Amino acid sequence: MDKITRRHALKAGGALGVLGAAGLAAPAQAQSLWTWSSRGSVAGTGDGADPRWVWDPEADPLLASIIDRGEVTKVNEALRTWTKNGQPLPDGLPADLRDFMERARGLPSWADQGKLATAFDFNEKRGLYLGVLYGLASGMMSTVIPHEARAVYYSKGGANMKDRISKTAKLGYDLGTRNAFQPDGEMIVTCVKTRLVHAAVRHLLPQSPYWPQTADQTIPISQRDMLVTWHSLPTTVMRRLTDWTVPIPAAESESFLHSWQLTAHLLGIMDEYTPASWDEANAQATQVLDPVLAPTSEGVDLAHILLNLGSSIDGGILTSHVLGAFTRFMLGDQIAEWLQIPAEPVWDPLLQQAWGPFIAVREGLLPFPAAPAAYWTFDEFLRQAALLFLSEAKPISIEIPDANRPL
Ligand code: HEM
Repeated sequence: MDKITRRHALKAGGALGVLGAAGLAAPAQAQSLWTWSSRGSVAGTGDGADPRWVWDPEADPLLASIIDRGEVTKVNEALRTWTKNGQPLPDGLPADLRDFMERARGLPSWADQGKLATAFDFNEKRGLYLGVLYGLASGMMSTVIPHEARAVYYSKGGANMKDRISKTAKLGYDLGTRNAFQPDGEMIVTCVKTRLVHAAVRHLLPQSPYWPQTADQTIPISQRDMLVTWHSLPTTVMRRLTDWTVPIPAAESESFLHSWQLTAHLLGIMDEYTPASWDEANAQATQVLDPVLAPTSEGVDLAHILLNLGSSIDGGILTSHVLGAFTRFMLGDQIAEWLQIPAEPVWDPLLQQAWGPFIAVREGLLPFPAAPAAYWTFDEFLRQAALLFLSEAKPISIEIPDANRPL
C-alpha cells in the first residue's frame, strides 16, 4: 500500500482509522485503482487519497462513543421529534452529538436555491419514471453491490426489508418535494439521520460474527462505498433516462445532479469526491460502480425479498414475475442471471419491443394512434410501482441501530 492511503487511513480518525489501516493487510479486492481526480469534484481540489480508506472521521468516533455510552435509545427518542429542516434540535441530545449535528445540518456555500427549484420541476415532471427507476434500477442494483448487500444483510435493518425499503424510499421522496432543502422540508433531517445511522453501522458491523467471515473489508461504508451507492442512484437513473431518449433540458439534468450533490454532502460524502458534472460522474462510475457489480448469496436473498414485496403490497398487479422482468429489462441479462431471476416468456419480449414506443408516445415523440397495445399496461405498472417505491414513504422515523441483525 502506498504511503498516502495509509497516512489518510490514520488521519481518518482514532481507532477507526487504525482498524482501517490494519485492514490494508486484507487480500486484494476486486476494485479498480483510484485515478479519478478531485479536480473534477465539487470541491475542485483534494489530496487524491483512495476513498476506499476513508470513512467519516467526524461522525464515526462520535457514534461509537454514543453506542458505548448506552445512549442510543435516549437519542432515538429525542430525534423522533426532529422532522423539519428548520426545526431546532430537540432537547435531550448529548452535547457532543448536538454540536456535530448543528454543523452537519448546514448547507455548503455552493448550494444553489435556483437549481433546487429547477430540480423540483424535474422531479414533478418525471416522478413516475423516477419512482420506478429508484426502486427497480437502483434498488435492485444495490443487491449486486457486494459491500452494500452484505452490510444491509447483516445489519439490524436487514431483518425487515419492507421497513428498510420504506425508510430508504423516504429519502427519495423527501428529495423530490418542493421544499426539500428549505426550512419546512425534510431532506436535511433525513440525510443527517442517515449519516448517523451509517456511522453507527461502521462501529457495530465489525462486531458481527458473520462480518469477518464474509466481508473483504474491516470497516463498512467507506467513502468509496458511498460513491458506489450514490452512482447506483442518480447516475444510473440518468443513464436509463438517456437510453430511453427521454427528452431532458440541460438545466433540469444539471439541477437534478445538483440536488444529489447536496445529498452527498449532507450524507457525509466529502466534497473532494463528489463529481461536479455528469461527465465527471460517468467517468467516476465507470471506475467505481461498473467493475464491482457481482452476485453474493446475501444479495440474491435480498433481491428475492424485494421482488416479492410488490405482490404483498398491491394485491397482485406487481407480481414477482413482472418485477423480475422489469429488473432484467433495466439492469440486463447478466445481473438478472446473477440474481437468479427466471426468464419471463411473455414479459421479457414485450418489454424489449414495446417499451421504446411506449416512452416515445408518453413523451409526445410518437403520435398516439401508434401507441402499442401494451401502453396502458405499462402506464399502470409505472403508477403502481412508483406508488410502491415512493408514496409508501409514510411518516417514518430513521433510527440509529444499537445492534446487528440477530441471525
Ligand atoms: C441505512 C441511504 C450508502 C448501508 C440507510 C438509510 C438510508 C440510507 C436512507 C436509513 C434507512 C434505514 O435505517 O434503514 C443511503 C444512501 C447512500 C447510502 C442515499 C449513498 C448515497 C450506503 C452504503 C452502505 C449502506 C454504501 C454499505 C456499503 C446501510 C446500512 C444501513 C443504512 C447497513 C442501516 C440499516 C439498519 O438500520 O440496520 N442508508 N445509504 N448505505 N445504509 Fe445506507
